[in-house]
Amino acid sequence: MGIVKPLPQEVYSKIAAGEVIERPLSVVKELVENALDAQAQNLRIELDEGGKRKIRIRDDGTGFFPEDILPAFSRHSTSKLNRLDDFDRLTSLGFRGEALPSISQVSRITIVSSMEKNGLGVGVELDENGELRRWETACARGTEMTVSDLFYNFPVRRKFLKSDRTELNAILRYVEQVALAYWNIGFTLVHNGRDLFSFPAVQTLEGRIYQIFGNEFVESLQPVQDQRGGGWSLSGWVSRARKGGRDRQRQFFFVNGRPVREKTLMAAFSQAYRGALEKEHSPQGVLLLEMPPHEIDVNIHPMKLEIKFADNQAVFSWVYRSLTRVLRETEQDLPSAFVVVDGIMPPRTAEPWSSSSYTSSPVHPFESEAGGGERRRLFDMPSRPLVADPVRPFRLLGQYLDSYIVVEKGGELVLVDQHNAHETVIFNRLEAHVRQEGRVPSVSTLFPILCELSPREWAAFEERRDELDGLGFELEPLGERSLSIRSYPVELTDAQARETLLALLRDDDEVAVEGRRDKRLATVACKAAIKVNHPLHEMEMTRLLTDFYALDQHDYCPHGRPIVVSLGVEEIERRLKRR
Ligand SMILES: Nc1ncnc2c1ncn2[C@@H]1O[C@H](COP(=O)(O)OP(=O)(O)OP(=O)(O)O)[C@@H](O)[C@H]1O
Ligand SMILES: [Mg+2]
Repeated sequence: MGIVKPLPQEVYSKIAAGEVIERPLSVVKELVENALDAQAQNLRIELDEGGKRKIRIRDDGTGFFPEDILPAFSRHSTSKLNRLDDFDRLTSLGFRGEALPSISQVSRITIVSSMEKNGLGVGVELDENGELRRWETACARGTEMTVSDLFYNFPVRRKFLKSDRTELNAILRYVEQVALAYWNIGFTLVHNGRDLFSFPAVQTLEGRIYQIFGNEFVESLQPVQDQRGGGWSLSGWVSRARKGGRDRQRQFFFVNGRPVREKTLMAAFSQAYRGALEKEHSPQGVLLLEMPPHEIDVNIHPMKLEIKFADNQAVFSWVYRSLTRVLRETEQDLPSAFVVVDGIMPPRTAEPWSSSSYTSSPVHPFESEAGGGERRRLFDMPSRPLVADPVRPFRLLGQYLDSYIVVEKGGELVLVDQHNAHETVIFNRLEAHVRQEGRVPSVSTLFPILCELSPREWAAFEERRDELDGLGFELEPLGERSLSIRSYPVELTDAQARETLLALLRDDDEVAVEGRRDKRLATVACKAAIKVNHPLHEMEMTRLLTDFYALDQHDYCPHGRPIVVSLGVEEIERRLKRR
C-alpha cells in the first residue's frame, strides 16, 4: 500500500515553489535530503564530470513501495505532508513533493529500490515523458537513484553550467556541510570513478569534524551545549578564544538538521566573540540548534535555503548568551568586566573585553605616552609637515582611523586606502615577476608548515598543483589529506603562507581561464598586504606611497575596488562657503 499522495490544492498553493533544479548541486542536495528522510544509515554519492554526466546516490533507507514510484515523480505528491497544520510538526527535510518531478523534467532517471533486506526490488527508467521501462531485480534494501545527462533537453541551460571542477567544488562544499550535522551516518563520495572521501558513521560531532577537517581544526574548537525551556537546545563545537580564522567558510549552522546561512545565528555567533579573537578573525565551528518545528518557517524559499524564526530576538539573545558563557567559563583569563546582555541585542559598538592583549601593534609614531595609552588621532598630530621632501610628488599628512593615509598631492587632499594601495603595489610586483621569470619567486620555510585539508581543498590541491608551483608554493603531500609547505611566494610571511594557500584552494573557478592567473595573484597580494585598522609608522607610509605613486595606475585595486578619494580645493572652499 503506497504512502505517496498528492497534496490538496490549498496546501500546495501555499508552498514556496519555483525553480528547484539549477545545477548538479541542486540534484545532489535533493537526493541526499530524500535519503536522509528515508532513514538511511549510509549514503554513497557517485558523480561523473562534476555531476553533469551522472549523479548516482545509493542509500540503505526504507526504499519505495513499487506502486509509489510513479506518483513520487508527479508534482506535489509526497509522503511527508498532508495538511497545512502538518507544517507545525514537520521533522523531515522534504515537504513540497517537487524535487523528483523537477529532476525528471531535465534529466534521464533510473531508480532501483527495495523495501526488503535481501529481497526483490523494482527498477524503473523514466524521463520527462514518464515511465520507459520497469523490471524486477534482486537488490539490497534501500534506493539507488541515477540521474544522467542533466539538461540534455535544455541545451541553453546546459551551456551555462560551470566547469566540472566548479560544479564538483559546490557539491563537495554541500556534502562536507551536511555530513557534519549527520555524523552518525556514513558518507562516501566518488568522482569519475575515484574515491574522494569516505566518512564512516561516528559517535560524535567531534569525530566527524576530525574526519573532514583534521586534528588541528578540532583542537582550535571547544564544545558548547545548552538547553532552554520550550524544547530549545544548542550544541556544537566552536572556536576557542583567540582561535578563529580569517574567513567564514568554516562556520556551519543547522536548524533542526537543516543546513542554513541564517543572519540571526551568524550575528549572534560573531558578536559573542567580539574582542575574543584577533583582528579580522571570525569564530569558526559547527552550531546545531533544535527547536519545536512550529517556531520555524521552513517554507519561505523554493530551494529551502532559508528559514525564518518566529522570534528572532529570542534566538539571538539565547545563542549569544550560551556562547559567551562557554567562552567565559573556559577562558578564565578574560577580564571579568565582560557582561552578558540579557534579552536585548548587545549594542553594535560594545567591546566586551579589550582586544589589545591579543594583537601586538607596532609602536605608533603619533601615540602619546600619557593619556592612558589612548592613541592620538589626526588632530593630535604635530602641525609641521611630516614629509617636506620636494622631490616627492606627495606630502604625507598622517593616518586616519589607522586605515587611510592622508596625503596632499597636486593641490588636492587625498585619502589612500592603505590595504588597497598596498595590495596593488604587491600585485604589480608579482605580475612583473611572472612576466619576466615565468613564475613567482619563493622563499623557503625554516620549519615546514603543516596543513590539513578538507576533501574539497584536497581535490583543488590535486588539480591546481602546477598553478600553485608557479605562484611560488612548494608543497609536499604527506599522506591522507595533509601536506607540508616547503616554500611559499615571496611577499608573504610564514604566518600568511598557510592562510594564503587555503584561500587559493577555496577559490571558486568562476572566472575564465585567462583571468585566473590574475585572480590568484590578487589573492596572494591581498593576503600579503597590510590590513586596515593597522597603525603605520611615518616611514612605512612614505615607503608605501612612494611605491604606489610610482605605478602607472592608481585608481583601482586588483579586485576592482577604488583606492583613493580626492578632495579638491574648490570643493573644500565651496563647502566652507569661501566661494
Ligand atoms: N531515497 C528515497 N527513499 C525512499 N523514499 C523516497 C526516496 N526519495 C523520495 N522518496 C519518496 O518520494 C517522495 C517524493 O520525493 P520528492 O523529493 O519529490 O518530494 P519530498 O521529499 O516529499 O518533498 P521536497 O520536494 O520538498 O523534496 C517522497 O515524499 C518520498 O516518499
Ligand atoms: Mg525531497
